[in-house]
Amino acid sequence: MASRGFFVGGNWKMNGNKESLGELITTLNTASLHDQTEVVCAAPSIYLDFARSSLDPKIGVAAQNCYKVAKGAFTGEISPAMIKDCGADWVVLGHSERRHVFGESDELIGQKVAHALESGLGVIACIGEKLEEREAGTTEEVVYAQTKVIADNVKDWGKVVLAYEPVWAIGTGKTATPDQAQEVHEKLRSWLRANVSDDVADSVRIIYGGSVTGANCRELASQADVDGFLVGGASLKPEFVDIINARA
Ligand code: G3P
Repeated sequence: MASRGFFVGGNWKMNGNKESLGELITTLNTASLHDQTEVVCAAPSIYLDFARSSLDPKIGVAAQNCYKVAKGAFTGEISPAMIKDCGADWVVLGHSERRHVFGESDELIGQKVAHALESGLGVIACIGEKLEEREAGTTEEVVYAQTKVIADNVKDWGKVVLAYEPVWAIGTGKTATPDQAQEVHEKLRSWLRANVSDDVADSVRIIYGGSVTGANCRELASQADVDGFLVGGASLKPEFVDIINARA
C-alpha cells in the first residue's frame, strides 16, 4: 500500500500585510519543523511573490484560487501560469468561502481543478457540508457529490490533496470531533476506492480543516484517515508550528 505523508496547509485567507506576514514567515523559517510533514502556505494573490521569496524553500506556497482558463479579459482573475510565475506550486480550489460567499458552482470548481492540474499546479481541493446538511443527515451525499465533480476532472491524483472542511467548523471554534473527522475521511477514502482505484484511495492525502488549533491537532492527527490539516486562523499564529508537528 502506498504510504501517505502528512500534509499541513496554512490558509492565510484575506489576512495580514507584509509586516505581519513577514513576522509569521520568520517564525516558520526559524522553527524546527517535522521533516516528514509537507507544509504549504496559501497566501493572498497579491503577496504570492513576497511569500515565495521570503519563505524557506522547504515550505511550499499556494494561491487561494485561480481562474478556469489560461487567458482572457477577466478583470481581477489570476491564471495558474501567473501563480507558477510567482514560484508557487499549489492552489486551493473549492473552498467553502468561494462556494458559499462567491457562488462558485461545483461545475466551475471542476473546470478550475482540471485547468490548474493541466497547468502543472498541485490542487488542494476543498469539500464539506453545511450545518443544515449535517443536521439533515445528508453529509455523505453532499461530500460524495462534491468529490465526484473533482474526481471527474483529475487525471493525476499525485498532485491532489483532498481537504474535508465542514462549513460549520470553519472559523467558528466548533471543531469536528476526532470521531466525526475520521468517519467522513474514512467514507471519502472508501468512495475513492470504489470510484477511482485502490492505489488512489491508499495514497491520496485527505486532510481536515475547520477550527484546528495547537490544542486539538494531535488528537485529530492520531486518526487513521486524517492525513493532515488545512488551517485558517491558527496558521497566522506561532501555534501553527505545533500543528505542523502534530505527527512528530
Ligand atoms: O481553509 C482552512 C479554513 O477554512 C479553516 O479555517 O480558521 O477554522 O482554521 P479555521
